[in-house]
Amino acid sequence: MLMHIKRILAASVVISAVLAQETVCNGYAELCDRKYSNVTSVGAHDSPFIGNSSMTNQDWGVSAQLDHGARMLQGQIHRQGQALHLCHTNCFIHDGGSLLDYLTQVKTWLDKNPREVLTLLFTNSDSIGVEIVKQPFVDSGILDMAYHPQSPTTAAGDWPTLASLISTNQRVVIFMDYHADHSKVPQILDEFSHFWEDPYNAVESTWPCTRDRGDSSSGMYIHNHFLDKKETLLGTDIFTPDTDKLTTTNAASGEGSLGAAIDNCVAKHTQPPTFVLVDYESHGNGSVYEAAAAANGVQYVAKGDIHPPTPAQLSHEMDDNAGEDTSDALAVALAQHLLTLTLPATLALSLLVL
Ligand SMILES: *[C@@H]1O[C@H](CO)[C@@H](O)[C@H](O)[C@H]1NC(C)=O
Ligand SMILES: *[C@@H]1O[C@H](CO)[C@@H](O)[C@H](O)[C@H]1NC(C)=O
Ligand SMILES: *[C@@H]1O[C@H](CO)[C@@H](O)[C@H](O)[C@H]1NC(C)=O
Repeated sequence: MLMHIKRILAASVVISAVLAQETVCNGYAELCDRKYSNVTSVGAHDSPFIGNSSMTNQDWGVSAQLDHGARMLQGQIHRQGQALHLCHTNCFIHDGGSLLDYLTQVKTWLDKNPREVLTLLFTNSDSIGVEIVKQPFVDSGILDMAYHPQSPTTAAGDWPTLASLISTNQRVVIFMDYHADHSKVPQILDEFSHFWEDPYNAVESTWPCTRDRGDSSSGMYIHNHFLDKKETLLGTDIFTPDTDKLTTTNAASGEGSLGAAIDNCVAKHTQPPTFVLVDYESHGNGSVYEAAAAANGVQYVAKGDIHPPTPAQLSHEMDDNAGEDTSDALAVALAQHLLTLTLPATLALSLLVL
């Protein structure tokens, strides 16, 4: 009899654990029934550029960024010989590894975390055809789990809920800034048909949240919340992350913080941004994720200590993520770059500000 009761109790504990898990979406039960367009998430800006130099933007690799809570990963696709790599401006300056390796890591993480919806946003300044871009998504298995709408544009009110994206196995939403083509690859969505963005390369933490790129009729918007330092080299403005101010920039509240910037965005545009892109997401012990929870009106669930890596951890992350920092001294890289330049110098340098 006692044995019997124990079994029933054990079974009900298992069942309630499974149920609890199945009613959580992106870490919060409250988000399951919310439309994709009605959830604010943190994005890791330039997520493949890992290190501690002027050409890097994050200090943990993508798996750790995702573990901490990032639900958008942003990066730049470039040609590196026959392959596609994630490079900062170009592959000579900083090569963050192949797109296939990167997507394979993301796929591994998604398989381990079945209740998570993730957005990928890539820039395509080399104008690579979308059918070529598609291949690493096929090879990594990501395309099979991507959102694939019937029409090129999903209006803000027509997005599925997070629970529906999870149950239909469309847990990855892929956007590209230029040269998406729904008739060729319906899973790669055109960014600016869905989002507008406020300015990037801010050098002052006033965060005005005004429209810069994209059409204001787009239902969703992205707030670029990474602060840069402007340096002038060879008569050209170079923007690099202002890491000295990260504590303020990434904070959940206070002047110049992410939290305050989101409040200002809400005051101006009624709804909070769908994504907020940050540099060095680990700085602030989860404060960027706390700010997103506040925007969603949910009680922040901390994931324990989130901190920048030690030097040993950092070099491990850089190895794991195949990052190759050819430009510890930005000036050297730029000078060499200028010597080997085939593009007009001004065009190439203007791309650097991305
Ligand atoms: C979600 O929609 C509600 C109702 O329109 C709105 O008040 C809230 O700000 C939205 N939240 C997000 C994160 O978009
Ligand atoms: C970081 O946040 C976690 C969760 O709130 C907390 O337990 C921990 O003490 C914090 N660590 C530091 C160094 O503030
Ligand atoms: C990055 O380098 C600076 C100085 O070179 C150092 O103060 C800082 O701790 C380093 N950060 C990491 C994450 O290693």
